[in-house]
Amino acid sequence: VKFSFSDSSCGIVFGAGRGIGLGITSALLKNTSSNVIATYRNIKRSDGLERLKTEFEKRLSLIQVDPSDEKSLVKFKSELSDIDFIINSIGLLHDDKLKPERKVEDLDLEAMLESYKVNALLSANIAKVFLSLFRKKSPTLFSTVSAKVGSIEDNGLGGWYSYRMSKAALNMLLKNIAIEFNRRACHTSVVSIHPGTTVTDLSKPFIQKTNYKLHTPYETGKNIINVLDGSKVSEKAHFLSWDGSKIPW
Ligand SMILES: NC(=O)c1ccc[n+]([C@@H]2O[C@H](COP(=O)([O-])OP(=O)(O)OC[C@H]3O[C@@H](n4cnc5c(N)ncnc54)[C@H](OP(=O)(O)O)[C@@H]3O)[C@@H](O)[C@H]2O)c1
Repeated sequence: VKFSFSDSSCGIVFGAGRGIGLGITSALLKNTSSNVIATYRNIKRSDGLERLKTEFEKRLSLIQVDPSDEKSLVKFKSELSDIDFIINSIGLLHDDKLKPERKVEDLDLEAMLESYKVNALLSANIAKVFLSLFRKKSPTLFSTVSAKVGSIEDNGLGGWYSYRMSKAALNMLLKNIAIEFNRRACHTSVVSIHPGTTVTDLSKPFIQKTNYKLHTPYETGKNIINVLDGSKVSEKAHFLSWDGSKIPW
């Protein structure tokens, strides 16, 4: 059994205000017929989302949600009747306090905890609150945008401690969710997805030095929905790259 966007009537994209989340939302609206509920934190930073709303007025709903606040998520869920997929694109690599660490002396407990919260725990909160909507016969999808640097097997470079550790924790969460959801009357494909290097606020400080192919957020959104479409419902979570290739856990 496979998940398919063509059988989906509605899904949620968390972290859709800018960056890859906005690209995924735009790609879903332009390439599928599903309705999309897009969550954001601060509409002042999300003008791209407001523009998309004027273009897809009927199919796009915008909701302000704080996924770290369970009550906010519960209220949001209580207003929904049916969804087929959730894609969470919220993530953190750097902010005022957190800089990707090059060496152990750079580690800061507060900054590491924030990274763990944003990159791993918000998806846990979302899974907890939304499980009941996944308990249905038709195939569903639960996916979080992760990162290849979260692969334990693939880590040959070191550095970026908080980010790597939090994405590895996210991957373990998704492995658990695939097992539990599919044992508890859900038919869910669970996918940890590496988006590929994408020009966003998150990557901007680092992309001058990279040799990787660069994508726009919309290209990445399209790549991601291509990979998620047709992903297998299974107790085994998938860890996939933007081109569909498997990444070792
Ligand atoms: N860009 C890349 O090359 C790349 C590569 C590998 C993996 N990724 C992953 O892709 C995902 C999206 O990254 P991006 O490049 O689109 O980053 P971005 O442009 O910095 O966007 C980050 C998103 O996360 C939201 N967010 C951050 N902290 C939050 C919090 N505490 N609560 C709620 N929302 C929060 C932001 O909302 P606000 O607008 O409200 O801040 C924004 O929607 C992340 O998981 C990232 O790790 C990106």
